[in-house]
Amino acid sequence: MLGNFCYSNPTKLYFGEDSLDQLGGELQNYGKNVLLCYGGGSIKKSGLYDQVVSILKANGKEIFEDPGVMPNPTVEKLYEGCKRAKEGKVDLILAVGGGSVCDYAKAVSVSTYCKEDPWDKYYLRMEDVDNPIIPVGCVLTMVGTGSEMNGGSVITNHEQKLKIGHVFGDNVFPKFSILNPRLTFTLPNYQMIAGFFDIMSHILEQYFSGEDDNTSDYLMEGLLRSLIHSSKIAVQNPTDYEARSNIMWTATWALNTLVAKGKSTDWMVHMIGQSVGAYTDATHGMTLAAVSLPYYRMILPYGLAKFKRYAINVWNVSPDGKTDEEIASEGLDRMEAYMKELGLVMNIRDLGVTEDMLDGIAKGSFIMDGGYKTLTYEEIVSVLKESMKG
Ligand code: NZQ
Ligand code: ZN
Repeated sequence: MLGNFCYSNPTKLYFGEDSLDQLGGELQNYGKNVLLCYGGGSIKKSGLYDQVVSILKANGKEIFEDPGVMPNPTVEKLYEGCKRAKEGKVDLILAVGGGSVCDYAKAVSVSTYCKEDPWDKYYLRMEDVDNPIIPVGCVLTMVGTGSEMNGGSVITNHEQKLKIGHVFGDNVFPKFSILNPRLTFTLPNYQMIAGFFDIMSHILEQYFSGEDDNTSDYLMEGLLRSLIHSSKIAVQNPTDYEARSNIMWTATWALNTLVAKGKSTDWMVHMIGQSVGAYTDATHGMTLAAVSLPYYRMILPYGLAKFKRYAINVWNVSPDGKTDEEIASEGLDRMEAYMKELGLVMNIRDLGVTEDMLDGIAKGSFIMDGGYKTLTYEEIVSVLKESMKG
């Protein structure tokens, strides 16, 4: 049965090849000073930086540059961004980049006028925002996180070996996001496929929980089928616009809060993957890929009915003459074959994990209880060890 919920998503999305044309109109809604956040240089290489700067200038904006947002943005970078935003008294934070830049922009948005250490308040203690917020807009260049239409903001603290995501409320969602699938064509293959798996993982984290008959599970099966279909095309031909645009839209729906409404969710793959990321700084989607199958194979007996449904409805496994366990396992085997076909990393060792890190990674994995089995510390270690065998 669907639980009670309120659904609202305040982000205005502009989608398609011409969507950047809408940036000028959106800029009219904000004051003069704009913090322009971007990553390590991909937008300069692609020419997007010049396009955005000329739109900002044509609209009379004063630009405060905030470059160098790294993948898995750090708390030190956050402090630096807050300083810049405060000095510039910025009226808008414009994130141009992938999930890391969008997440970072949201972190700067809530932290600039925070009276105490934002890491302690918003990440360690997960408190609600009670200080002024700077509005955020996004021009997305990498597909996967859903950050363009949600309140998620993940920050890494290397000193404390913690990578933590705060899911902020509606007021922190980007006010607008511009999604042009063509901007993703320049992504290196490794980032592209990592993003594809991030999308799959977001859907599975919300799917593998609960056994009710609800609309969300049907929506998620449709999103998964679309993703599997289009990602196979995209790895062969990365400039296939139809495939890349379908994937971009699927990524947004996978984590814009809709499919989680009224149902429970899991998120243990992300908790373990993020802890792997805190130790290795590895690409987010690859950390998820490397721990997913060991985790799902471990919890399969506790959620057998759903794993069977997944095998049949998503992977077209024929149930004829097979036990429920056989059907469910065949679904995960097909998922494994698909992951290998994409070229995903299946072993945390390949991400830089060594035996001496396992205890710390397991301890840094926050244990969630929405899935089919609440894991123990020992079980997390065993998921990690299993991944190291692969
Ligand atoms: O820094 P630049 O030079 O721009 O290069 C980036 C970066 O190296 C490159 N890139 C992005 N767009 C490109 C491009 N290169 C060429 N052409 C383009 N069009 O790709 C690299 C990775 O970018 P990044 O933004 O780090 O990737 P992603 O979008 O996967 O974001 C990862 C971060 O998002 C968090 C992750 O934990 C991680 O910190 N997440 C955020 C979530 C949310 N907000 O809800 C949920 C996710 O589960 C995830 O945890
Ligand atoms: Zn993710």
